[in-house]
Amino acid sequence: MIRNNTVKTLLSKTKIQKRNRELAAAINRVYGTMPVTAVVITNGALIFAADLIRQLTFPLRFDTVSAASYSGVESSTNITLNTQLKFDIENNDILIIDDILDTGNTLKSVTAALYKQNPKSIKTCVLLDKDRPRREMDGADFVGFKIPDVFVVGYGLDYNEYYRNLPYVGILNPTVYD
Ligand code: IMP
Ligand code: MG
Repeated sequence: MIRNNTVKTLLSKTKIQKRNRELAAAINRVYGTMPVTAVVITNGALIFAADLIRQLTFPLRFDTVSAASYSGVESSTNITLNTQLKFDIENNDILIIDDILDTGNTLKSVTAALYKQNPKSIKTCVLLDKDRPRREMDGADFVGFKIPDVFVVGYGLDYNEYYRNLPYVGILNPTVYD
């Protein structure tokens, strides 16, 4: 039962907000005054992206794409993608924002799909990067936190669609996976 589950804090709200400020400063340094199109992967990255993009100081527009690969706590290679954007990104500098890098399949698939729309450049930003071997890609250009290879929820991340509203990132009581 979802209401009996407990979540142990891994990254507090304060820690996340502090790191967001540092990440935004690093991204601002890279783009300077160049216009950028941010592409936010829903639903997981929505909350992180909302906090992050408000601290970006260059001309920015954003749209969302959807990618779903998880069922419960298992990542799958079977990804459902919708990368149709509201505007043309040809010759644009793109910043893809996602919540977490696990196998890397999602970010790799979204990046590949957006490259077909002929952007000038694509950089990637994730809040969390799981410490695990990864064949799919090297990593993101901007990373908030490296975390152990555990299943986390909160601050946009879900377990069967719940917990996205937690203001912190935590580890779900493992007994619920049975
Ligand atoms: P990947 O394709 O295996 O890299 O998985 C990335 C996607 O799976 C992320 O965008 C998340 O939506 C989801 N995901 C991966 N790890 C976790 C986790 O620990 N908690 C919740 N969602 C996760
Ligand atoms: Mg996601």
